[in-house]
Amino acid sequence: GAAVEVDVGGLAPGEKLTVEWRGKPVWIVRRTPEQLKALPGNDPELADPKSDRKAFPMPEYAKNEWRSIKPEYLVVVGICSHLGCSPSDKFQSGPQPSLPDNWHGGFLCPCHGSTFDMAGRVFKNKPAPDNLEVPPHMYLSDTKLLIG
Ligand code: FES
Repeated sequence: GAAVEVDVGGLAPGEKLTVEWRGKPVWIVRRTPEQLKALPGNDPELADPKSDRKAFPMPEYAKNEWRSIKPEYLVVVGICSHLGCSPSDKFQSGPQPSLPDNWHGGFLCPCHGSTFDMAGRVFKNKPAPDNLEVPPHMYLSDTKLLIG
């Protein structure tokens, strides 16, 4: 499939952009410093904190704490690894319906309640087995991103 070029320069911290790549939604989220800071604390609650599982080939450049090339920009395929629904944004931290009390922001799948953190990592004991896929991508300039 054709690669998709996106300019992420207009994204404010805490905002998300969705583009279509190979018929799938790809999310680009500009994470806030608070959202980045909360990520390591989630590790004990996650099914695969270091994305070691091989369900999706994890690009080398995203094998880090943020699962991304640049810490602030998360780039993931917005499809739940359970049965393929598209999770909803739950970026605010704090208690909310269907979310743990110590929620630090992420995504909630409306179909069967799987939850993912702001790096797209799935929480334990949820129907979704795997983290959200990081698609192949690269930066062509400071703000120009090429997906695919
Ligand atoms: Fe997402 Fe089932 S499709 S939890």
